[in-house]
Amino acid sequence: MSLRHLLDIRSLTREQLLSLLNDSKKFVEVSRRSIKKVPALRGKTVINLFLEASTRTRASFEIAGKRLSADTINLTASGSSVQKGEGLIDTAKTLEAMAPDILVIRHPASGAPHILAERIPKTSIVNAGDGMHEHPTQALLDCLSLMERLNRTAEELSGLTVAIVGDIRHSRVARSNMWAHRLLGNSVRLVGPSTLVPDEFAGSQYFPGGVTIHHDLAEGIEGADVVMVLRMQMERQHESFVPSLDEYSRYYGLSVAKLERFAPDAVVLHPGPANRGIEINGALLYDKRSLVSQQVEFGVAVRMAVLFSLATGKGALPVEPQSVEGHTQ
Ligand code: CP
Repeated sequence: MSLRHLLDIRSLTREQLLSLLNDSKKFVEVSRRSIKKVPALRGKTVINLFLEASTRTRASFEIAGKRLSADTINLTASGSSVQKGEGLIDTAKTLEAMAPDILVIRHPASGAPHILAERIPKTSIVNAGDGMHEHPTQALLDCLSLMERLNRTAEELSGLTVAIVGDIRHSRVARSNMWAHRLLGNSVRLVGPSTLVPDEFAGSQYFPGGVTIHHDLAEGIEGADVVMVLRMQMERQHESFVPSLDEYSRYYGLSVAKLERFAPDAVVLHPGPANRGIEINGALLYDKRSLVSQQVEFGVAVRMAVLFSLATGKGALPVEPQSVEGHTQ
């Protein structure tokens, strides 16, 4: 069960996924106490290396490390020697010499965390989002949000229809969620224009037997249990994938009215940051069916569970919540 790195969801077993989700739930409880700090990772060092913009992931990894009493430092491209042209491997080798236990990395290049796992083997690597590849902790917090809203355990989070809407071509969030829902036993619909939902996603290399593609929003979300709306990722679009954002919004943007009409019982996820008025209407973002705030809250718990698991090598917290309680300072 024990994990050396968290590089992606794709290479996890179902048992590892369930274990991380169940552990995360225990850390939600820790994060809701008035005193949120436990000494579990005292003496451990976590470096957060964010070479691409982030608010949620970066802040929550820092908070997670601090709540576990780890020594946590944060580096971004701006203000580090990356700005002077130092490359990824040399940056990582430099940081490795300071003996961190865990290096959390966000990078614009797909595969960057995997390269680090090979090149600095003494340090556990966590992928905090790499290019268009994966964002494993995002998928974990999305699943944890569904567990809480649907009042299900990780083991029970199956049999759902999950519609993922929007810029799937460029989305690491979609890829990690597709793998997670495959392991959990849910069916996934990919919804969007053909330019943003390439047909190869239905191919067996991505999601054997489990993905359907829909170019019509109403058809794609009708009767879904979960509608996950994705951000239009302008920073990764080096050509025009839609005729205009206005037109995209008209055909694929989700609003309260469209949700009520086609999927009235669905809950809505959005990884953030949202382009209000493009992929999602501002009123829906904080509607009662939206789990956006909960996703952010649970991001901290998920990242605590991941850091704990990697730093202790246990792969799981003690089973009883009282055992966590016992660590409280
Ligand atoms: N969802 C997500 O990764 O958001 P940030 O880019 O703000 O971290």
